[in-house]
Formats: sequence, C-alpha cells, structure tokens
Amino acid sequence: MIRTARLILRAWRDDDLEPFAAMNADSAVMEHFPKPLSREESDETAARIRAFMEVRGFGLWAVEVPGSLPFVGFVGLTSPLFEAPFTPCVEVGWRLARVAWGLGYATEAARAALDLGFDRFGLDEIVSMTVPRNVRSRRVMEKLGMTREPADDFDHPRLPEEHPLRRHVLYRFPGSRRLA
Ligand SMILES: CC(C)(COP(=O)(O)OP(=O)(O)OC[C@H]1O[C@@H](n2cnc3c(N)ncnc32)[C@H](O)[C@@H]1OP(=O)(O)O)[C@@H](O)C(=O)NCCC(=O)NCCS
Repeated sequence: MIRTARLILRAWRDDDLEPFAAMNADSAVMEHFPKPLSREESDETAARIRAFMEVRGFGLWAVEVPGSLPFVGFVGLTSPLFEAPFTPCVEVGWRLARVAWGLGYATEAARAALDLGFDRFGLDEIVSMTVPRNVRSRRVMEKLGMTREPADDFDHPRLPEEHPLRRHVLYRFPGSRRLA
C-alpha cells in the first residue's frame, strides 16, 4: 500500500469490481479507447491487473480517497504486451472515474508510482503513451516531468490500420533524470 498526501494506492478488492465496471462503461472515461467495456470485459481487465501485480510486485493499484471514495480508479505501473520500438518497457498509467477528475489526483498518485518504480524496483526508465487528442492525460505526463520526442510517435499494433485511435504519442522519464 502506498500513501500520498490525499490518496491510498492499494491492492484490489472484490468490491472494487462494481465501481470499476461503472467507470469502464462511462463513454467520457473511455473516449480515447476503442469502446466502453461491458461488465465481463471490465472484470477480465481487473483480473489481468491483479495477476500482473501478483507476479511483478507492482502494478495498476486501486486508488482510494480515504474517508470519502473507497475506489476512484487505478494509477500505477504496467508493461504493455505488444511489441514496439520501445518495448519491453514499464509504463505509468491512470484511469479515474469522472467524479475524481480535475483535482490533481492522477498526477499525485503517478508521482508516487514513479518514485516506487525507480527507488524500490530500480527501473531505468518509465514511459507513458496515449492518443494525441487525450490532452488531460498528456498534461499529467507533462506535469510529471515526462518528455516527448516526436520521433517516438508510433502506430498502436493492436489497432487496425486507418483506426482513428491508432496513432500514439510516447513520453519518457529516464531514471537518470532524477539524479540531475
Ligand atoms: C487522464 C485522467 C487520469 C486525468 O486525471 P486528473 O486527476 O483529472 O488529472 P490531474 O488533475 O492530475 O491533471 C489534469 C490536467 O489536465 C488539464 N486539463 C483537463 N482538461 C483539459 C483540456 N480539455 N485541455 C487541456 N488541459 C486539460 C487540467 O487542467 C490539469 O492540468 P493543470 O493541473 O495544469 O491544470 C482522467 O481524466 C481520466 O481518467 N481520463 C480517462 C481515462 C484516460 O484517458 N486515461 C489515460 C489513458 S492514456
């Protein structure tokens, strides 16, 4: 479990699955993904996240606002399963319910995840990726101090050619930058 000034990043519980499914069914939350998820797809995603955490010791933690919201989404570290010029890699990612947007929660939680990734897990670099139009997510990456080189932009191999979400931007945070 990780505590930040306002949040708890913790292991998933079975009672997170219902609010997770509600979040994944929200078309605003899923605007930059191919489609909202059904309950079954949401549960499968949670199971994959939990399995990854078991193996790696880190992952996309469930995020709680103590005293008010027991589950507002996930923030943390994962490894993409597809191949690209920058893989294998560890990625910092986030998905929050709309009620929790605009409060700096994603940035606060992601900062703690980056610290843990570098300090406890000794990672050399952490990346993040999204579609160019996802300005909220890109802003979080920029606030974290991540930087983008246009030469790193890539086409997501899991999406068909001509898919409007295929083009992605990549942001990087090299561990060496923390020492500078
Ligand atoms: C991306 C997401 C996690 C951001 O969460 P959040 O807690 O609101 O993020 P923060 O409050 O830390 O920062 C958001 C920043 O985006 C800015 N922002 C919000 N809407 C914006 C817009 N339309 N245009 C430009 N910037 C915008 C905010 O002003 C804020 O920056 P600031 O602190 O400089 O003002 C949340 O919007 C979300 O879950 N989106 C849906 C899922 C998703 O897209 N996940 C990422 C996939 S790569």
